[in-house]
Amino acid sequence: MNIKDNKTSPIGFFDSGVGGLSVLARFRKVLPFENILYYGDTIHLPYGNKSKDELVSYARNILKFMMSRNVKAVVIACNTSSAQAYDTVKDMFNFPIYPIIQSCAKGVIDSRTSKVGVFATEATVKSGKYTIELKKCNPNVLVKEIASKNWVSIVEKTTKNIEEDIKNIKSEVEEMMKFHPDKIILGCTHYPYLLDELTKYASKELFIDPAKIFVDFIKSDLEKRKLLNLSKTNGKEEFFVSSNPDEFIQNGKIFYEIKNPPILHLC
Ligand code: DGL
Repeated sequence: MNIKDNKTSPIGFFDSGVGGLSVLARFRKVLPFENILYYGDTIHLPYGNKSKDELVSYARNILKFMMSRNVKAVVIACNTSSAQAYDTVKDMFNFPIYPIIQSCAKGVIDSRTSKVGVFATEATVKSGKYTIELKKCNPNVLVKEIASKNWVSIVEKTTKNIEEDIKNIKSEVEEMMKFHPDKIILGCTHYPYLLDELTKYASKELFIDPAKIFVDFIKSDLEKRKLLNLSKTNGKEEFFVSSNPDEFIQNGKIFYEIKNPPILHLC
């Protein structure tokens, strides 16, 4: 496929489920003309407590599926998969793969940033990937990563004890504030949707939604590679899930309006 044909090929997005739709929502504001193929790996949800081997195997299979659909690039719209799988799969395919953590770290650090807090899933924190990537930008930066409990379930309202879980947010933010961070990265696709609760215990200016930085990075990289779709009509969207399409539509509403019903496809 030559570059000219490639421009109208879809961009693949994947996540464990609906969380990556929050990245897609941001992406759509900046790049409305791109065709999109979104894959929600709902049968393996949640990714946050899976092992590295499992996450690598899921990512590899999804990327193979995306390759069979002639994507021109893939967005790993999931912090956990970026943290645990990207390094292993990044050279296996001949299209650009954009991982959220590695693509946004540079945009977080500026000359006044000396301490960065990160809230993320257990698997992301275990990988230490945010610390590694932030230190590549500034070796002196201090990073504190906290694995937040049940925050994904709070946003999706699937937790059994929502009041208790919401109460825990207070102690987790208070623990973070003892570190006196200059910035706090919301290092899971769901967490920006907890801002109303989080900002009861820390100032709004501290919190960073990496999706904003991520999307700007993707746009400029696609531009550099001459891969942007130059058409002036809104892009098509296809959604695939590995289980429960109805639940995907229901939970996805929090993040994005899904226009086409998702197709069941196990990678
Ligand atoms: N979307 C995933 C992330 O950004 C978290 C959801 C999950 O645990 O499956 O890390």
